[in-house]
Amino acid sequence: MTILVTGGAGYIGSHTVVELQQAGYDVVVVDNLSNSSEVSLQRVEKITGKPVKFYKADILDREALEDIFAKESIQCCIHFAGLKAVGESVQKPWEYYYNNISGTLVLLDVMRKHNVKNMIFSSSATVYGNPAFIPITEECPKGEITNPYGQTKGMLEQILTDMQKADPEWNVILLRYFNPIGAHKSGTIGENPNGVPNNLMPYITQVAVGKLKELGVFGNDYDTPDGTGVRDYIHVVDLARGHVKAIKKIEENPGLEIYNLGTGVGYSVLDIVKNFEEASGVRIPYVIKPRRAGDIATCYSDASKAKRELGWEAEYGIKEMCEDSWRWQKQNPNGYAE
Ligand code: NAD
Ligand code: UFG
Repeated sequence: MTILVTGGAGYIGSHTVVELQQAGYDVVVVDNLSNSSEVSLQRVEKITGKPVKFYKADILDREALEDIFAKESIQCCIHFAGLKAVGESVQKPWEYYYNNISGTLVLLDVMRKHNVKNMIFSSSATVYGNPAFIPITEECPKGEITNPYGQTKGMLEQILTDMQKADPEWNVILLRYFNPIGAHKSGTIGENPNGVPNNLMPYITQVAVGKLKELGVFGNDYDTPDGTGVRDYIHVVDLARGHVKAIKKIEENPGLEIYNLGTGVGYSVLDIVKNFEEASGVRIPYVIKPRRAGDIATCYSDASKAKRELGWEAEYGIKEMCEDSWRWQKQNPNGYAE
């Protein structure tokens, strides 16, 4: 079975290509490299010992997609391609709506023209807003989304749901990721943010490697055990394997399904700092800062639906997540840049 992976050179995409190839799938990657490097795919090839078929193309480019679908016998698409920086999306809403929404609409149109109606979509726990209850099940109502990036996830979920309803030949799986961290065990692929990282773990690893002075902890007055924000961190390799399970589900023609991909365990910012220090042996200096706009106190999943229906559950704990994030950063202090 041939899987089209859009955004396959990125952080989650590259780890998913590894797992797909290792599970025996043929993979075609489309990425415009706007937030990634082709080096990640060369590293994937080293890990799996298999070539990765790569097209440098934009999902907004209908002609390029038409060409790819004409050449390759694609049966399913895992759709990672998109812009994902929450803060940037507030500054550049048009760019986010255009890239994420219009790009996906073009992709979906080319897919249906070529009678490829199997789609696994990267959604996010952000669609729950400030969640109505914790742990968050898939039945938790969608909440108020506070930034354009998150809006694109909510809107694309709706678009995919409506298309599947109108044409039941579509199989659509919406995967709502919690907080992916970690890296492949080899330490050769990992998260490679541009500029100063917005997310917690890449910020910590850059402090550890000496690129940043200290961590700012955004608020210690939340209603949580130590006052800092609690999240459901999930190892990116576990997340990648969730996609392989989702493909097996797609093969059963499920129609529309939604799954949370998380561990079901919440850790605070200070828990992460402590676990990272233990795993790396490096001290992480931090200062308490004001709360970050749009943040919520607590977010963790009930991931039992994925276990029940996909036979998937996260295997790695916080220790491995910290060790593997650190190995990647230490071996690649400048990410994929030489
Ligand atoms: P990433 O930026 O590393 O990967 C996204 C990839 O898409 C990049 O390689 C980028 O170059 C490519 N891309 C962007 N726009 C494109 C376009 N128009 N045409 C072709 N390629 C394009 O991000 P990631 O962390 O790997 O995230 C993958 C997906 O998962 C995204 O859709 C993201 O919104 C979603 N997601 C991520 C997180 C997270 O915390 N990392 C959480 C929830 C959901
Ligand atoms: N935090 C800090 N200091 C930092 C960065 C983060 O204290 O420098 C805190 C945040 O306040 C939060 C926690 O660390 O309490 C995690 O923050 P991240 O920015 O790493 O992650 P978020 O939970 O805010 O959001 C991430 C992605 C979203 C996605 C969401 C749910 O950035 O795109 O997970 O999947 F929607």
